Amino acid sequence: MANIDLGTFGINEGICEMIVTTYHGWSPNAAPMGIIRKNDEVLVRLFKGSTTYKNVMSEQMLVANLVYDPVLFVRTTFGNLDDSEFDVFTHEGRNFSVLKDAMCWAVFECTDMKETSEALVAKLRPLHARMNKTVFRSVNRGFNLVIESCVHATRYKLTNDEKYMRLIKAYSCTVNKCGGKSEKQAMKLILDHLEGKK
Ligand SMILES: Cc1cc2nc3c(=O)[nH]c(=O)nc-3n(C[C@H](O)[C@H](O)[C@H](O)COP(=O)(O)O)c2cc1C
Repeated sequence: MANIDLGTFGINEGICEMIVTTYHGWSPNAAPMGIIRKNDEVLVRLFKGSTTYKNVMSEQMLVANLVYDPVLFVRTTFGNLDDSEFDVFTHEGRNFSVLKDAMCWAVFECTDMKETSEALVAKLRPLHARMNKTVFRSVNRGFNLVIESCVHATRYKLTNDEKYMRLIKAYSCTVNKCGGKSEKQAMKLILDHLEGKK
């Protein structure tokens, strides 16, 4: 597909927090990643050590899934999904995996891959995209703070710095006030995970 209007697929100016799916061998993988858009340039920065990084290094492809389910963000931050939660498609002879629950998704080829000691930065060239559902969502502070808490949770696990835990606990009050059932469930999953209950 040549001319893909990326804004239609949730990829707007700035950093778009999406769930990136990659595929290697027979295993699909999903993880939250920031898709960075500056005018017409789209980039991703993948820190070394993740499965997404390894899959992109070997396949030079990724899919950006637009997801509104906060529980999916939490589950993919801490682990992987069941294979049954992915669909696998083929485009021009190459396999790629997408999330069944994505509102829409866009497949990208990763080009101009540059590595630093810590990360890989790749430009993203859109190949193909699909709209599954058109849903208009209002801004929900609870949802936004679940995403923020996921980011802090990854930092907390890396550094053990208690400031991240304090922030997450503070956010959980707003999530419980402003969020819906799934935001509250997502926040509980984060706290249970960090407190070692799961
Ligand atoms: C909202 C959000 C955005 C993230 N963005 C990135 C990113 O842009 N690059 C990155 O390397 N990790 C990012 N992470 C961290 C990864 O999602 C996390 O390390 C994950 O466990 C990697 O999973 P994987 O090993 O299955 O690839 C982000 C996490 C969250 C919650």
